[in-house]
Amino acid sequence: MLAVKELIVFYENAIAVNDLSLEVKQGQIVGVIGSNSAGKTTLMNTISGLILDMRLKERRKGGQRITVMGQVFFEGADISQTPAYERARAGIVLCRERHPIFPDSSVVENLKIAGYLRTRAQVRQGLEQAFALFPNLARWRRRKAGFLSGGEQQMLAIGMALMVGPKLLLLDEPLLGLSPAMQTQLVEAIKEVSSRTGVTLVIAEQFARPLLPWLDFAYVIENGMLTLTGPGPELMTNPEIKSAYFGV
Ligand SMILES: Nc1ncnc2c1ncn2[C@@H]1O[C@H](COP(=O)(O)OP(=O)(O)O)[C@@H](O)[C@H]1O
Ligand SMILES: [Mg+2]
Repeated sequence: MLAVKELIVFYENAIAVNDLSLEVKQGQIVGVIGSNSAGKTTLMNTISGLILDMRLKERRKGGQRITVMGQVFFEGADISQTPAYERARAGIVLCRERHPIFPDSSVVENLKIAGYLRTRAQVRQGLEQAFALFPNLARWRRRKAGFLSGGEQQMLAIGMALMVGPKLLLLDEPLLGLSPAMQTQLVEAIKEVSSRTGVTLVIAEQFARPLLPWLDFAYVIENGMLTLTGPGPELMTNPEIKSAYFGV
């Protein structure tokens, strides 16, 4: 359903993504694994179209030059020049790094804000779905989001992204900053999202260990380039992965 072809992204003269191609099939959970600065966020922003907004903004203020080459295909159509809001409408939704939420609004309010473009029935359904997927959100529904734990805030961010009704959900480092126990809980929640909603998932992650066993396919990137690919469980046993990401 998604294909990225020979993508190259420059910030000024520095290359962030270097000739990267990948493919995602409907219903899959696909991982983009790489250390800090590998190019994960740049890739996610390019798939969601956010990079086009960033490029425009930089151009307007006479800032740095952002260059994007290559193509993004979604459901067979070339969307490389399609703006982010249209991609969102078409079903590509990005849950950005460090789960930005509205800390002074309640859990329910946050979810409703995320669903502002949807009908009342869709919002009701979306709330039910979020509370079924994330029981902690149901428990704290009237609580200010800023008082939730890091893991709960991440669940809320995913719940908010789901309110938009995505076909393709992009999660940028959902495990970032969470305790190992919380990471395990979040991985369980992500599996639930996949199996219950059928949404296709692309997950960028640095700390891939808890996630890897569940990835239908994983792309390992370093300095913007692909270094390894394969089904998650297969990569689990790869010695290079073990030394680079598991510290063994
Ligand atoms: N807005 C930006 N302006 C300039 N350089 C950037 C910008 N965003 C990212 N970079 C650079 O691009 C490279 C890839 O960054 P990023 O995509 O954020 O990687 P990751 O998400 O894997 O940490 C890094 O070298 C980073 O410094
Ligand atoms: Mg990043």
